[in-house]
Amino acid sequence: YAHVTLEAGTILFEEEEPGAYAYLITRGRIEIFLRRDGAEIQLAVRGPGEIFGEMAILDSDPRSASARALDDCELVPVSEAQIRHRLSETDPILRLCLTVVMARYRETAALLRERGVVARGDPAAAPSPAARADFDAAITAVVLERELRRALDRQEFELFFQPIVRLGSEMLAGFEALIRWRHPERGLVAPAAFIPVAEESGLIVDITAWVVAEIGRVLPGIMRAGLRNVAAIEGSLFVSVNVSGHDLARASFPGMVCEMLRAAGIAPGSLKLEITESTLMRDPASATDALTLCRASGMGIAIDDFGTGYSSLSYLSTLPITTLKVDRAFVRAMLSEPRDHKIVQTILRLADEIGIPAVAEGIEEPAEARALAAMGCAYGQGYLFGRPAPLAETLDRIRS
Ligand code: C2E
Ligand code: CMP
Ligand code: CA
Ligand code: CA
Ligand code: CA
Repeated sequence: YAHVTLEAGTILFEEEEPGAYAYLITRGRIEIFLRRDGAEIQLAVRGPGEIFGEMAILDSDPRSASARALDDCELVPVSEAQIRHRLSETDPILRLCLTVVMARYRETAALLRERGVVARGDPAAAPSPAARADFDAAITAVVLERELRRALDRQEFELFFQPIVRLGSEMLAGFEALIRWRHPERGLVAPAAFIPVAEESGLIVDITAWVVAEIGRVLPGIMRAGLRNVAAIEGSLFVSVNVSGHDLARASFPGMVCEMLRAAGIAPGSLKLEITESTLMRDPASATDALTLCRASGMGIAIDDFGTGYSSLSYLSTLPITTLKVDRAFVRAMLSEPRDHKIVQTILRLADEIGIPAVAEGIEEPAEARALAAMGCAYGQGYLFGRPAPLAETLDRIRS
């Protein structure tokens, strides 16, 4: 469904038209040509593994040539928005180089044409292995992005909840909401398979908006279940959600979350936002603004995967952080590697010094939980206490 098919002979677009898509060719050949004085001048023939129609997208000029299918073709369109978003995320020097190369190509082609010379592309030169690898990566990303958009429309996402417990008493303290994609053919898809592309493409903003709305729908039920079983629960339950730097860069983000909490009648203190260090480093100024607003309205702010990103201790003093999450990598190695044990100890001491609790992730063994509790780690999360589970199972767990 991400592919379009074209019959041999079909014109895809004409010179001078505005462009909305570039195309990746997965099957068949495409002819690029000009119409001059009633005749056609062939500029190039492009085949599988190649892209065309990229020029109009890169610099917004009209199509520089016409395109027609020579065979029955299969193409994957890449929209202007998809390319623009990636361009805006790229290194400014690369962007500058691309702009100047585009302008230079157009100038040269115009100059040559004045002299009656047409700039022809190489006749279907085989793509280099590097170009082939880029092509394959591009196809994968573009196809996945289309599927994700459709998954949003078709409500194929689902939130799972993993318990977070007080170490020592093992009382239930809260949950982390973790997204799953219930794919009609592939079954349950883990976030590692789609969150990176969602971030690259900017689609993460729509996914997070869905997560926030879904939290608003289910959190009242979770809180109510908690109130009916206070003996097994520490205080009142919280739910933490993962947000990305793209979300925080949107000025509308704090308002969107506050509005969800208000409409659902949930105390802001019951919601925690989890952000990773690398996400913070993307655009520290706007992340700081957003998180300061969220914190001011009462939400908790947790640093996720602490110690694995580009750690900068400066944000610990400038950001209103309320929780540190010790990454699973340290917890896993802690009992066998003295160095990791020391790192965990240091992170816990740091949290203690700045007066915020820590959550250790990825606890699978009772010995890990004991060691962490002995080091003063307040909370634990991991398969030992429960795997991420669907809402119904989660409600059962809270009630039991
Ligand atoms: P994360 O935020 O670090 O979430 C913890 C991950 O560790 C989860 O993987 C969880 O299932 C897994 N985990 C928890 N306990 C254990 C354990 O004892 N052993 C092992 N082996 N794994 C454990 P999951 O659900 O596959 O999520 C992976 C990552 O995807 C998350 O890492 C988070 O970065 C991202 N993610 C998940 N849901 C969302 C979401 O709604 N929005 C965003 N932006 N990212 C999300
Ligand atoms: P665009 O200008 O968007 O639409 C026409 C496309 O034809 C253009 O992008 C390039 O992908 C391709 N094209 C234009 N000129 C040439 C050429 N001289 N050789 C090969 N391909 C070309
Ligand atoms: Ca997390
Ligand atoms: Ca984590
Ligand atoms: Ca992680």
